[in-house]
Amino acid sequence: MKPFKATAVSPANIAFIKYWGRKKGTLDEEVIPANSSISMNIDNCYTKTTVEFSPEYEEDEVWIKFFGKSYEKVSGSPLNRVLGQVNHFRELNNCALKVKIMSENSFPSDAGIAASASGFSALTLALVGAFEMKLSLKELSILTRLAGSGSACRSVIDGFAEWRKGHDSGSCYAVQLAPPEWWNLADLVTVVKNEKKEFSSLHGHALAHSSPFFNRRQHLLKKRIPLVRKAIKKRDFLALGELIEEEATEMHLIAMSSHPPIFYWNKGTLEVIHFLKEIRKDNLFVFFTIDAGPNVHIICQEKDMDKIDLEVKKLKNVLFTIKNKPCAGARLIEKHLF
Ligand code: DP6
Repeated sequence: MKPFKATAVSPANIAFIKYWGRKKGTLDEEVIPANSSISMNIDNCYTKTTVEFSPEYEEDEVWIKFFGKSYEKVSGSPLNRVLGQVNHFRELNNCALKVKIMSENSFPSDAGIAASASGFSALTLALVGAFEMKLSLKELSILTRLAGSGSACRSVIDGFAEWRKGHDSGSCYAVQLAPPEWWNLADLVTVVKNEKKEFSSLHGHALAHSSPFFNRRQHLLKKRIPLVRKAIKKRDFLALGELIEEEATEMHLIAMSSHPPIFYWNKGTLEVIHFLKEIRKDNLFVFFTIDAGPNVHIICQEKDMDKIDLEVKKLKNVLFTIKNKPCAGARLIEKHLF
């Protein structure tokens, strides 16, 4: 019997327009966002995943290896999340075989970059490959979205993507805005001391509607989303920079004003933000965006990244940085992890 085995590699992505809150009245498992979002794939933060279904396996097994660590067997709710997607594919393909999954992340687990976008997009494509399913990118994006980490559906697209909120599950998927080589941007992930317990994005999405500013933000996004699209299309760095800072601050404002509130920023976050404001005075144009954690994604032009990296590493609260460029989306590869 032919083995049902495949390996995929997929990047994390950084959101320029954030997904923060689901559409009212939709079920959690539908993963329909309140607003469309826009992102860029980042090349140095990726997950590689091999899946194999075989009659030789007596139980489902999932193993994960973070950068610099050894393989750990996954259990509890992370395992259930993975098996939720596996079961979806078993149903679609009428398969009762048990699975073994091994997954490796190229970035440290304490980098505060959600491994779920790269992880769930790599898992989904590996499952598609194992069952030799012929899918359009739209179908792949929808299946990835349904894995649970909505932002993962943007990682299957090459370069710059927009996840359109659509009006139902079939119209809610990501499309390409520009290929990776379109723009020499860089994302310098700046990892700062994390003193506060983090709340998952899942928690944040659920609480977002309790912020008194949630509806106002949705209203403002109607203008901001087309402006970000336009800035990418025109490679207008200053316009993009201003828009993404405004956007990141607003997403965090929603988190901070939810009931109960979520504060992701710490003193390191503010140290980096102030540092960026200072170096802009020297006409070095750099901007920030921040996902659901304290770490700062410094968005700059590729030519400036090394210079900024040297400076930012001197800050008291900066632990380490990861240099990233825009990249392609999820891919099947020949070399398996086992
Ligand atoms: C702040 O539900 O996709 O990163 O499970 O953490 O990947 P994870 O989150 P998901 O929410 C993403 C929230 C965000 C903004 C974004 O990427 O759009």
